[in-house]
Amino acid sequence: MESSVAGGVIIPQPIAPNSATKSTYVVDFEPVEKDRVRLNIQYAGFVENAGHLLPPAIPDQRSLTAVADIATGTGIWLTQLSELLPSTVALDGFDITDRLFPDRSTLRENVSFSLLDILGPVPENLYEKYDVVHIQWLFFVLKTDEWDRVARNVAKMIKPGGYLVWNETNPGSSQAIPPTRVASQGARLLEYMCKLRGGDPFCCDSIPTHLRNNGFTIIPPPTESLPEYIPNPPDANTGFYLHVAGEAFKPSIVEKWSRNYASGLCSLISFMAQHNIPNEWFTPETAGGFVKEFLKETGEGGSRIFFDLISVVGRKGA
Ligand SMILES: C[S@@+](CC[C@H](N)C(=O)[O-])C[C@H]1O[C@@H](n2cnc3c(N)ncnc32)[C@H](O)[C@@H]1O
Repeated sequence: MESSVAGGVIIPQPIAPNSATKSTYVVDFEPVEKDRVRLNIQYAGFVENAGHLLPPAIPDQRSLTAVADIATGTGIWLTQLSELLPSTVALDGFDITDRLFPDRSTLRENVSFSLLDILGPVPENLYEKYDVVHIQWLFFVLKTDEWDRVARNVAKMIKPGGYLVWNETNPGSSQAIPPTRVASQGARLLEYMCKLRGGDPFCCDSIPTHLRNNGFTIIPPPTESLPEYIPNPPDANTGFYLHVAGEAFKPSIVEKWSRNYASGLCSLISFMAQHNIPNEWFTPETAGGFVKEFLKETGEGGSRIFFDLISVVGRKGA
């Protein structure tokens, strides 16, 4: 990650567009294995709450011929999908860095991972190649004015009539339940750092607009209950296909999710302290005490911390 010094304070900066070597992702200061575990637990929480890998709104899923995962990270979604779909479907994962890619020897032959900066130009060999493109969790990566560019680029990769599945959160939805003083302050760091980087803490609210602007029709949530769609569906007026707020998380995932999220926030606090990032809650000197109190309040029997899980599904005009 690159940084600049403003008034003695180091601010994480985005990389130059088109670079295929570095990530714009601010939390990639964690060791690879720690990042991998955190992302995979976070991912499992999404799937367990949603009830599906691919939304049931996508018909004939076993007849798909090509599926892509953008900003794939550890490739966990694509790897799990390869267990469900026939080996004839091409499953292509893309990321700006190969840092978290899985070991090739562990993958099925139809799964591949390659470098791609989704903010840069899309190579023509990927034009209209995919029946489905999946994106999950760019909320800490993209700046407010970059969301539309991603929708435009991804639209180029999808066949007419194909689908975009975009799973995200609003960093502004991060909360401690029940709210206690330091657990709530810690939970707010996601929104704070998102804003500091020029991101939008309520980015999900405009995803449906970016999709409509780039030739997609928004798929409404199911109207009847489906075994592969677990949560209560959101109001169709939001443009969301799925929305799980902290209070509605499946009880079976709450403990693991909260512990994982707390650990990620502790890494963020340590990053902020190391780089002297100004904030109203701690200084580099008091950060250790803040972490201790945060872990106490979010420990056994204490507050649980969450961010909302949101999915938007669009179909590209034929
Ligand atoms: C929060 S992780 C999400 C990973 C994965 N989608 C998941 O759900 O676990 C964000 C990912 O975005 C990738 N990324 C950041 N900037 C990118 C860019 N411009 N183009 C493609 N991937 C990017 C990072 O390398 C990282 O793997």
